Amino acid sequence: MAIELTALETPALLLDEARMHANITRLRDRLPAPGPFLRPHVKTAKCLEVALAMSGGVPGPITVSTLREADRFAQAGFRDIVYAVGISPNKLTHAMALLASGVQLSVILDSVEAASALTAFMQGRPERLDVLIEIDTDGHRGGIAPAAPELLVVADALRSPSVRLQGVLTHAGESYNCRSTGALEAMAEQERAGAVLAAQRLRAAGYPAPVVSIGSTPTALTARDLSGVTEVRAGVFVFFDLVMAGVGVCTPHDIALSVLTSVIGHQRDKGVTLCDAGWMALSRDRGTASQPVDQGYGLVCDAQGRVLPDFIVTAVNQEHGSIAHRNGDPGRYLDVPVGTMLRILPNHACATGAQHEGYQVLGQDGTVTARWPRFGGW
Ligand SMILES: Cc1ncc(COP(=O)(O)O)c(C=O)c1O
Repeated sequence: MAIELTALETPALLLDEARMHANITRLRDRLPAPGPFLRPHVKTAKCLEVALAMSGGVPGPITVSTLREADRFAQAGFRDIVYAVGISPNKLTHAMALLASGVQLSVILDSVEAASALTAFMQGRPERLDVLIEIDTDGHRGGIAPAAPELLVVADALRSPSVRLQGVLTHAGESYNCRSTGALEAMAEQERAGAVLAAQRLRAAGYPAPVVSIGSTPTALTARDLSGVTEVRAGVFVFFDLVMAGVGVCTPHDIALSVLTSVIGHQRDKGVTLCDAGWMALSRDRGTASQPVDQGYGLVCDAQGRVLPDFIVTAVNQEHGSIAHRNGDPGRYLDVPVGTMLRILPNHACATGAQHEGYQVLGQDGTVTARWPRFGGW
């Protein structure tokens, strides 16, 4: 299969396979061997082929954000799965079905309520469910502070023959707001040290807690020390996006994902070139709006993927995108004919990917060499 881009109907989601492999290699090469291993987060891609590439060609340990992902990847042979969103009681029957199918599933929680609901559900069951306590190392979202007394209260609430407290998990999502290498390194160390402290407190209280799971793309790519850590989870590194470029852990040239679009008209008086990639194709994500360089709804490239640094998608409707000069000057609009194909680099790869049913995979010569399906839902 070698299809020219011009044969595609737009909008279409493009995946540059060589860039993807380079991104995977870059992170894998950072992890010391022997040492903490990579447990990639497969929520960015939701695609079997990409997950296999992240795992080195054969199914390995993965992180998921939905039990649907767990189902799909389990069917494809992935057996060691961490579901890294706080478990709600209404998902426990689904979790049992995964255990019954032979999956080694770990769930996370951060409260006595959730722990008590879990042990009540598991009471008298023959299965054994692995649990990680979620630790808050950066004030970003969920989790228990590493030094909080509540940590041991939750551990105590998990005492059950059907539950195995395996350790701790943290995600330094605040790293997305770091603006310098020094700040990223400090955040990575804060993430590591907090998770290790929490695990040490559990061990000192008599819980084995062998697992210390950390990770986000910015911290995984900047951490100088991983001592005490057993696994690193990262997801968006596989494709990268404009938010990660704004954080400083990649450049736009590393971004493997783009949306192919066609020019459909002009509003020359307003300095706007219209294309057929609206929010349905790009998503409404405006993750770069809070960064020093606002990339609108995406950064424009020519059809070969060469960045046109002055042009961004400034507005979107469902199926229309408005391309304009980033300084708003109507005299400097993108003057290309109707039908011209362009690529748009996404703000947030997970959100843009979620708008599409599959990837048109680009080979080294820029032709489409494969189509990889992706899935959604819960
Ligand atoms: C719990 C958890 N772990 C790991 C990740 C991966 O982070 P990133 O996409 O920055 O690599 C995420 C992303 O949201 C997450 O929520």
